Amino acid sequence: MGLCSSLLLLYMVLVCFVNDVLSGRTSSFTRSEWPSTDIPLDNEAFVVPDGYNAPQQVHITQGDYDGKAVIISWVTESEPGTSEVWYGAVEHEFEHKAEGKNTNYTFYNYKSGYIHHCLVDGLEYNTKYYYRIGTGATAREFWFQTPPEIDPDAPYIFGIIGDLGQTFNSLSTLEHYMQTGGQTVLFVGDLSYADRYEYNDGVRWDSWGRLIEKSAAYQPWIWTAGNHDIDFRPDLGEVSTFKPYMHRFATPYVASQSSSPLWYAVRRASAHIIVLSSYSPFVKYTPQWFWLRGELKQVNREKTPWLIVLMHVPMYNSNEAHYMEGEAMRAVFESWFVHYKVDIVFAGHVHAYERSYRVSNINYNITSGNRYPVPDKSAPVYITVGDGGNQEGLAERFSKLQPDYSAYREASYGHSTLELKNRTHALYHWNRNDDGKHVPTDHIIFHNQYWASNRRRRSLKKHRKFPGHASLIAKYEELFPVLV
Ligand SMILES: *[C@@H]1O[C@H](CO)[C@@H](O)[C@H](O)[C@H]1NC(C)=O
Ligand SMILES: *[C@@H]1O[C@H](CO)[C@@H](O)[C@H](O)[C@H]1NC(C)=O
Ligand SMILES: *[C@@H]1O[C@H](CO)[C@@H](O)[C@H](O)[C@H]1NC(C)=O
Ligand SMILES: [Fe+2]
Repeated sequence: MGLCSSLLLLYMVLVCFVNDVLSGRTSSFTRSEWPSTDIPLDNEAFVVPDGYNAPQQVHITQGDYDGKAVIISWVTESEPGTSEVWYGAVEHEFEHKAEGKNTNYTFYNYKSGYIHHCLVDGLEYNTKYYYRIGTGATAREFWFQTPPEIDPDAPYIFGIIGDLGQTFNSLSTLEHYMQTGGQTVLFVGDLSYADRYEYNDGVRWDSWGRLIEKSAAYQPWIWTAGNHDIDFRPDLGEVSTFKPYMHRFATPYVASQSSSPLWYAVRRASAHIIVLSSYSPFVKYTPQWFWLRGELKQVNREKTPWLIVLMHVPMYNSNEAHYMEGEAMRAVFESWFVHYKVDIVFAGHVHAYERSYRVSNINYNITSGNRYPVPDKSAPVYITVGDGGNQEGLAERFSKLQPDYSAYREASYGHSTLELKNRTHALYHWNRNDDGKHVPTDHIIFHNQYWASNRRRRSLKKHRKFPGHASLIAKYEELFPVLV
């Protein structure tokens, strides 16, 4: 075979490879949806429970590192009342009592109710617990299910929701999620959008708490902070950041040796989940940087094979909305994500859906000119699920040319589910509100980056047909010089 035909063959092989693995899809789906306006306060979605000082806005989150505790939170409007939780594994018999605390805050002219947080710990795995809060005739009862013990093959279903807000689209997202069988929500930031109201009206934080109660009182929501949760209003004399968010939404940050509720980690079933704050210092030598460096070293993929990172601002985003806002954090943390073989990074912020291929852009070199994302088997998949349905509406404008790192993108409302099956396989599905789970949208099977890649590396060595990875990447760059 002559040199020319060899090169032609190589070219064809590469084009096939690239077409196979690296061709993205921009969905042309057109949705039918409600206008992006908030649900009126007197709507039944925000109903205040009957009776004097009845507990409302009930929500739970994981309370420790490994899933044997929950933090139960709620609000009482008229007086503090009690911060106790009665609970037990037998329905209607609440054998145990845990003692919580309450707090309250003002925000300009808004005065919050009494916000209760109660840690319930020492729970058994895989157990349904019933709990009761409040007193007398206005006491309310709920339940939750503890996760299986930490185990590499423990199956578990996570839902991923972002940028929810409180419109009819938000309600549709919530109700679609509740039909999926998801066991815990990974929430990627921007909760109530109360900051869209005059004086960041706290009344809309309260209504949001009531909106999500039908899910959040029964299963943990793992919180990530977004820009709409900052509530920084120096013009109103409100100069602290995340004041309503941090009063209302507790996180188990102490259990992972974090110094702030805004970044922390939890382990649940077969997953190690790391929550980062896009709006807190993260450059080298900051508390978040030190903490993440330490936490990543502690991840044990033999016990929790699925390594998942949550943040608000996406690092890979080809939408015109918030373009490049994730670059600073990418420059600082991306090489760690590749080194530790993070499986998936979930983000929100952009009000649309997008999924990347496994790519990295960590070889930046001012001398050689390397500056483009390249296919990288060790890199995470980046998924943006900022499409919960808030009042700002959808981010409809994607870059005209879909970058090669982008696998699927669509401006519709929805949420995702991630079903961890065992140490090697997980089923991932993006669910568009308009048709829920019944119509195929974006779905893939994840092969675990730790367990599956060990096997893949061995088999690659045995029957290698393609040129080495490095030269493939070089060729790929030659063929597709403009990636971004
Ligand atoms: C919290 O509630 C107590 C008791 O009602 C009240 O005295 C205090 O002023 C409130 N604090 C804030 C910050 O509103
Ligand atoms: C950057 O690229 C130049 C030229 O290819 C190379 O000599 C140098 O070692 C690279 N620097 C790093 C830190 O990789
Ligand atoms: C893991 O789950 C996948 C998908 O359900 C299945 O095909 C595979 O055989 C399982 N592997 C093990 C080791 O159980
Ligand atoms: Fe945002």
